[in-house]
Amino acid sequence: MSLAQNATAFGGDDGLMAECQRVGISLAPEQNVAVVTFDAPDSPVNVLSSAVGTAFAKLFDMIERSPAYTGAILLSGKKDTWIAGADIQELSSLKTPLQGEELSRAGHVVMNKIEAMKKPVVAAIHGACLGGGLETALACRHRVVTDHPKSILAFPEVQLGLLPGAGGTQRLPRTVGLQVALDMMLTGKNIRAKKALQMGLVHELVHPAILRTIAIDRAQKLARGDKLALKKREHGATNILLEDNPIGRAVVFRQARDAVLKKTKGHFPAPLAIIDAVHTGYSDGQTSGYAEEARRFGDLAVSPVSRQLVYLFFATTALKRDTGLPVGVQATPHTVQKLGILGAGFMGAGIASVAVQQGTLVRMKDASYERVAKGYAAVRDVLRERLRKRQITRVQNDDTLSLVGTTIDYSGFANTDLVIEAVFEDLKVKQAVLKEVETAAPRAIFATNTSTIPVADIASVAAHPDRVIGMHFFSPVHKMPLLEVIVTPTTSAETTVTAVEYGRKLGKTVIVVRDGPGFYVNRILAPYLNECGKLLDDGASIESVDAAMSDFGFPVGGLTLLDEVGLDIAGKSGAILSHAFGDRMSPSVTLQKIIESGRLGRKAGRGFYSYDSDGKRAGADSSVYAFSSAGQQRKAFDRQTMQNRAVLPLLNEAVRCLEDGIIASPRDGDIGAVFGIGFPPFLGGPFRYLDTLGLTEVVRLLEELNRQFPGRYEPARLLRQMAARGAQFHAGVKPS
Ligand code: NAI
Repeated sequence: MSLAQNATAFGGDDGLMAECQRVGISLAPEQNVAVVTFDAPDSPVNVLSSAVGTAFAKLFDMIERSPAYTGAILLSGKKDTWIAGADIQELSSLKTPLQGEELSRAGHVVMNKIEAMKKPVVAAIHGACLGGGLETALACRHRVVTDHPKSILAFPEVQLGLLPGAGGTQRLPRTVGLQVALDMMLTGKNIRAKKALQMGLVHELVHPAILRTIAIDRAQKLARGDKLALKKREHGATNILLEDNPIGRAVVFRQARDAVLKKTKGHFPAPLAIIDAVHTGYSDGQTSGYAEEARRFGDLAVSPVSRQLVYLFFATTALKRDTGLPVGVQATPHTVQKLGILGAGFMGAGIASVAVQQGTLVRMKDASYERVAKGYAAVRDVLRERLRKRQITRVQNDDTLSLVGTTIDYSGFANTDLVIEAVFEDLKVKQAVLKEVETAAPRAIFATNTSTIPVADIASVAAHPDRVIGMHFFSPVHKMPLLEVIVTPTTSAETTVTAVEYGRKLGKTVIVVRDGPGFYVNRILAPYLNECGKLLDDGASIESVDAAMSDFGFPVGGLTLLDEVGLDIAGKSGAILSHAFGDRMSPSVTLQKIIESGRLGRKAGRGFYSYDSDGKRAGADSSVYAFSSAGQQRKAFDRQTMQNRAVLPLLNEAVRCLEDGIIASPRDGDIGAVFGIGFPPFLGGPFRYLDTLGLTEVVRLLEELNRQFPGRYEPARLLRQMAARGAQFHAGVKPS
């Protein structure tokens, strides 16, 4: 279309056309319908900023007034996103709650404008329709979505410590009902197109090829006042009973609050703010609901929790672009089409299950048919679960499973591009399989999934040490988001980028670390777990230690984690670290004795807790106290004292890892801790938390503890140096 025609489309308003063009909004008339296409310049996705909102409001105003249009449709020019949400950079620049509130109110003006249009606006959705995108869609009269796996709808604001601030808390319940709306906003979960149709979030599902045509047709029909033949949304009898009267709604709100408090322990303010904003809309009417939404949005946008979550979002995004190589070094990754896996045990099968889901051909080897069959069954179970949740179809399930081949020799390994070993945690066994792989898979990269053995020790027997690397997955592999890639001084740049690229392909957040005992994640975890054990040595109760740690924000307490990991595994790993780092990593007496007694944790039905025959936890096992010199009589410990004793050495060790060059940056350290061990995300990770506490204060606390427990709390040199200089790990974090 020529420029002149374009200006006509904009009602001859050159200024409006220029304003829209600047933010990537174009307009074309088609059969009296305004076809509005959003395609943000220089950005892979469309996001809503104030500038985009203002342009939309003016554009729809013009469309409403122009006799040339009877209605409008809203399309995206991007391949896989419709609108991915609000401009998070803009949110980060907010300084005061009032500025946040004003931004939310400005969003309301735009959405209300779209909603109040006398001419119908049809949202023609293909790709991700998230946050502000979904709020825009909800303001449209009609929503058509493509039946495509990339078309997903969600309100992920809660994951950034925010609430949907452009009317979402009010429009969503009206559209899909109270309970469904709360569930969507409190979890941020993705809704696929078909489900969105079933729940009434959208009106129609179409093939991508006819999205535009159908949307135009619907705009025309609605403009003519035709009734569209649509299916009514599901609304179960229980929902009606509960939601359509104030008493029922009170029950829903109370249950939602209780569930949130139980889950977040009060650490995350956003879910409660969401519930309040929705509640206000029901109890005091929409105008009040919008006002409450804006006010709460303003508070949240500048809250410390949201700032940390937004930081983690940016850090993760930046990490995705990081090659993992030192500055100035470049290399091209090899494509991994065929993957060999050694060991079809817990980890091997887990890795296979994520690899086949990305379309990689997998050859899995173990020592016997019985074991490979067990591994194959474990892969099948992961897929079966996805099938049960309808995340994949039966055909996809069968196709994916057909990518797994098993063997008890190296047949089928010759043309593998990458071999990941997950055999027993034993240096000799690992060295032996490395040598076998070098013959059986001559061009493959060899990655070890060892959790504790230095990768260089394994590589020491290699003919091609440049092709040896660590790929440390976490269990269960299909759920845990982190991958720690470990490079040795001999690992080549190609090997590194291949492991990083492939890890990302598997959907993992990848940090690249240097080789050393415990690498990064297990090294910082060890002193924390040891201290949980030492609190028992000193007379604290099992429940009180775990309660203090989950109160701090860890997903489970340290002793529960030890039971889950397996006390034998934890013991071996602890011994390696204690050997490498001496006193500050010495294991607790109780832990050592409990391992010697043969208790293995959950898998054996007995650890710090006892478990019934179905593996359900029965309660803390007080017979454990016999292993500690403090005896059966347990003492009360102050919660903060327990948290300081266990968490400060973790923070201190993270700084040592930075000092030793194990991690390349505080950012990687934060991500590794949050995604690898569940360090509380609302604290932003160890380094952000150190900055928040203030380094001088941390040094003071460590010194105090070190006087009490000599050798365990000696502040890291870098920490002392930075504290003395008044420096921070991250610029701009305000000490609390
Ligand atoms: P597992 O005992 O479940 O599986 C090991 C498998 O390797 C067994 O099926 C065994 O038959 C097989 N195997 C032993 N020697 C073999 C050989 N020469 N060739 C082929 N297969 C052989 O152990 P898991 O838990 O899967 O651990 C495997 C590795 O992953 C270890 O190095 C462990 O340290 C590491 N790891 C374990 C994590 C966990 O949470 N379990 C987490 C991260 C790493």
